[in-house]
Amino acid sequence: MQSASIDDTLAQLEARGYFASRELATALFLALRMERPLFLEGEPGVGKTELAKAAAAMLGTTLLRLQCYEGLDTASALYEWDYPRQIMALRLAEAAGEKPRNDTLYRDEFLLKRPLLQALQLDPNNPAARRVLLIDEIDRADEPFEAFLLELLSDFQVSIPEYGTVRASTPPLVVITSNRTREVHDALKRRCLYQWLGYPDRARELAIVAARAPETSTELQHRAVAFVHQLRTMDLFKAPGIAETIDWCRALSALAVTELDPQSVQDTLGVLLKYQDDLAQLDAQRIAQTLALAE
Ligand SMILES: Nc1ncnc2c1ncn2[C@@H]1O[C@H](COP(=O)(O)OP(=O)(O)OP(=O)(O)O)[C@@H](O)[C@H]1O
Ligand SMILES: [Mg+2]
Repeated sequence: MQSASIDDTLAQLEARGYFASRELATALFLALRMERPLFLEGEPGVGKTELAKAAAAMLGTTLLRLQCYEGLDTASALYEWDYPRQIMALRLAEAAGEKPRNDTLYRDEFLLKRPLLQALQLDPNNPAARRVLLIDEIDRADEPFEAFLLELLSDFQVSIPEYGTVRASTPPLVVITSNRTREVHDALKRRCLYQWLGYPDRARELAIVAARAPETSTELQHRAVAFVHQLRTMDLFKAPGIAETIDWCRALSALAVTELDPQSVQDTLGVLLKYQDDLAQLDAQRIAQTLALAE
């Protein structure tokens, strides 16, 4: 279902366990209204991928996801022909004494549709829904692929020589994410609405943790979120994201920790910090200090 306002978008995302900032809800609302792709950048684990999932749930469709990597080609992103089945069809036709025709080989059932092509067609399970396409971590793909994507995003159609042109009747909602391992071209960014995702404020992170780690007591959720926020002010190589806060709350619950003391923090710090240099910085004294500051 398409939302009617920004408040409605916020509420609909929230109903699916996603707590967006007002700016992000506005960007999503506009992306839907203006039929423009949404480009999301931000630190790891701050909800870029998850937003696309929540938007798909909100629109009543399954998410189409294209994970980018170096060497990603159109065969994996767009379509390829099912070669073995084509050969089989050819043999069968020959055995039956038929002359192979174009439609012996190039049938819909032999076309392996990858996410970009699927996004241009209706959702078979809900033809009325707008499709949602996540192009995840575009910064990992190489530049020729980015150029190809730019073309696809400008007309939402592709031409398959043996098959014909496939055109989206309604442009899909496209969510593109980047972790900024390299800068993405301006030409691509220009087509999109841009949103930077930072760490949430305490109230929003608490709402997220309450929804995603409900087994943890409210008191412990408060203490954990305050501690994580304190950690984010420190000069760390990699500060914990929202994903880490959720994991940490779950870990504390699994260990039946009821109160956050220096020992339980030290024992579970590997859930929050993933670099030895960062872990080494947080010795017992620093943990105690940080806990005190997070009161
Ligand atoms: N706003 C949010 N509301 C609810 N849950 C969230 C939110 N942001 C993040 N999360 C939680 O954090 C987890 C990690 O988020 P996500 O995978 O979307 O991060 P990301 O920004 O895509 O990270 P990466 O750059 O590492 O891919 C999600 O599985 C979800 O549980
Ligand atoms: Mg992600």
